Amino acid sequence: MTTTVQPRKIVVLSGSGVSAESGLPTFRDANGLWNNHPWQELASPEGWQRHPETVQAFYNERRQKAWAAQPNAAHAAIASLEPAYEVVIVTQNVDALHERAGSTQVLHIHGELAYARGTSPRRHRYRIDGAPIEMGRLCEDGTQLRPDIVWFGESVQHFDEALMHVTTAARVLVVGTSLAVQPAASLARYAHQSAEKVLVSLEMEQVPRGFVFMRGKATEQVPALVARWLAEAQRTGN
Ligand code: APR
Repeated sequence: MTTTVQPRKIVVLSGSGVSAESGLPTFRDANGLWNNHPWQELASPEGWQRHPETVQAFYNERRQKAWAAQPNAAHAAIASLEPAYEVVIVTQNVDALHERAGSTQVLHIHGELAYARGTSPRRHRYRIDGAPIEMGRLCEDGTQLRPDIVWFGESVQHFDEALMHVTTAARVLVVGTSLAVQPAASLARYAHQSAEKVLVSLEMEQVPRGFVFMRGKATEQVPALVARWLAEAQRTGN
């Protein structure tokens, strides 16, 4: 099945590096979250079963910090692409900084800190912004509330929708991700061969085929790229 690329569609695949300059930690950098905390204990259903209060406290702290953080120039530049382009952000991040910068189509494939959910299959969801979830606080169906985060071993969210957008985008920007975690990382490989593909990061072990690597900070590289894309939209009307 041949997919048609939509000239005005941009997909941004973002990771923790785009929020690093807002003061939020990444995962695998020198001072990354998973270098200082065991993800097996804090971001897995097994860890939740073993010690839910420790997991709850870990996410309460992250939620409070994420809610206090401000969007940076990279988030703002990405938001400024609308309405010249249809911009779909597929983010691995669980903060709300893309939305708070003004982006309107954001798919959180690893969940969102600002939401709590029940632990029954019905998955009732509640917006809690930066507030803590206390042990003993129950969902309407009587199950313990937990962070609405996709833990290791759980299925990612909105993946099919994300894939549809990536394969039909004329421009794909991958920013601030090591592409270390599947299936999120595989999305970069589904970019159309005719699409313009750019990757912004401080470093990258393996740049996906067809991507131009712009090494540097998101707050420097992304505004420069966005300025060029906006100038192109001005000139060609798409
Ligand atoms: N500007 C641009 N890129 C940056 C910056 C910055 N200021 N700071 C860090 N980076 C880059 C790093 O070079 C690295 O390539 O961001 C990337 C961060 O990679 P990771 O720490 O692996 O984070 P991420 O790719 O988002 O992790 C993916 O792993 O544990 C799971 O669920 C978690 O969503 C997360 C997923």
